[in-house]
Amino acid sequence: MCLPAVSWHRTIGNISIMRRSTGSLLILAVLVVGVYSAAIEGPIDFYKLYDNPEAHISLKGKATTADRTAAHGYPSEHHHIITEDGYILGVFRIPYSHKLQNQNAKRPIVLLQHGLTSCSDAWILQGPNDSLPYLLADAGYDVWMGNARGTSYSRNHTTLSTDHPLFWQFSWHEIAIYDILAIIDYALRTENGEGQDAIHYVGHSQGTTVFFALMSSIPAYNAKIKTAHLFAPVAIMKNLSSPLVRYLGPYLGHRNAYSILFGSQEFLPYNEFVMALFFNICQPDVLYRPVCESAMKTLYSGGRVNMTAMPEAMPTHPAGCSTDQMLHYLQEQQSGYFRQYDHGTKKNLQVYGSEEPPEYPVELISSLVHLWYADSDDLAAVEDVEEIANRLPNKVMHRMADPEWNHGDFSLNREVRKYVNEPVISIMEEYELKNSET
Ligand SMILES: *[C@@H]1O[C@H](CO)[C@@H](O)[C@H](O)[C@H]1NC(C)=O
Ligand SMILES: *[C@@H]1O[C@H](CO)[C@@H](O)[C@H](O)[C@H]1NC(C)=O
Ligand SMILES: *[C@@H]1O[C@H](CO)[C@@H](O)[C@H](O)[C@H]1NC(C)=O
Ligand SMILES: *[C@@H]1O[C@H](CO)[C@@H](O)[C@H](O)[C@H]1NC(C)=O
Repeated sequence: MCLPAVSWHRTIGNISIMRRSTGSLLILAVLVVGVYSAAIEGPIDFYKLYDNPEAHISLKGKATTADRTAAHGYPSEHHHIITEDGYILGVFRIPYSHKLQNQNAKRPIVLLQHGLTSCSDAWILQGPNDSLPYLLADAGYDVWMGNARGTSYSRNHTTLSTDHPLFWQFSWHEIAIYDILAIIDYALRTENGEGQDAIHYVGHSQGTTVFFALMSSIPAYNAKIKTAHLFAPVAIMKNLSSPLVRYLGPYLGHRNAYSILFGSQEFLPYNEFVMALFFNICQPDVLYRPVCESAMKTLYSGGRVNMTAMPEAMPTHPAGCSTDQMLHYLQEQQSGYFRQYDHGTKKNLQVYGSEEPPEYPVELISSLVHLWYADSDDLAAVEDVEEIANRLPNKVMHRMADPEWNHGDFSLNREVRKYVNEPVISIMEEYELKNSET
């Protein structure tokens, strides 16, 4: 969950609209149901026929993750990976370091997975001296940066356009069992992956949720993990303190008229106007810079965030997601469980064979999991992280010493290199050293 400040405002807007006008709610509901049944029954994607699927993306003319890494001299690749259910994911790679010229050596593979409403750019904002992908490449790693379905780089499908309602019918469960699974297998299949059967994994926020979901749902994938590093892990959400989530939970965390109306659609269509606005107010010299800073302070501990890196994020953030990902989180916050999506009793019976969604069996996550968590994290409370950790058979706890360390500090704290990135790389190095000896 990175930079949701912009997005949340919209959510509040939606709710107040809904509560004010029950009449239009009814009309809207009828419309939604109508569009849905038409879409589900017809085999043709009318939206794709009449609409240019790329019309709303407009990343055109903007630097991609690959452009940005290349600008710093690093070898950069842009891959398109197709999942079992037809989503086409844009995934970036720094295959080796131009400084080391190690392209002919066997390089350990590492996959970095971003948070909700974020994308691969989140990893590189602080530049080559501080950001994890560059530091990993310079330490000899083959670095992959994933992008979940629905984000700016992964808005494509073999048969559905992004305007088709079925395109947005997914939560982070599907990101886990289709997207992350596909990226891991693809990385292991590329030339450098030959002879390798496992990777290192790093996830932030939702990037941790999808790790828990995949590794507990398809435990065979634990064998493909050397070490996992979960920053600000989100699974159980009982003690989460974010006032916004606690406020929204009772409305949207249950199957009801609000959540049905809100569900299965794109959360924040990539909006040029909003982006331009935020890009501009976060520029160093403008009058409105304080607005940008105060918006960011709720997420990032004051004064320690690299504000120079902030405008770097603006062209591609927020990066898009399905409203179902948010609903799924709000359901966890309400139920207190880490479990699959709640479709309501009737559909749960069809999908899961039980009235309640099944819990993720996290006891089955046998891979080595390092949990990096913090006292001031609004979205991943210490009690919740420790509760999930108690059920993991193979974990190492890293509670940040700094009491002010927050959710966003894992990405934009000025000292993230010293407190997080370097220790993470040392742990990977230790693993590689041990396993090359045997
Ligand atoms: C902050 O971000 C900028 C822009 O990416 C980068 O040049 C700089 O090295 C980063 N770190 C610090 C400590 O300023
Ligand atoms: C890069 O980081 C190191 C260690 O944190 C620091 O000593 C050095 O001054 C930094 N270099 C630049 C160009 O920021
Ligand atoms: C989307 O995928 C199709 C193939 O199904 C491809 O022809 C097209 O170029 C892709 N568009 C983008 C924006 O990647
Ligand atoms: C965490 O949440 C549980 C369940 O809601 C509650 O019983 C407990 O007191 C909370 N702990 C803290 C430290 O807030």
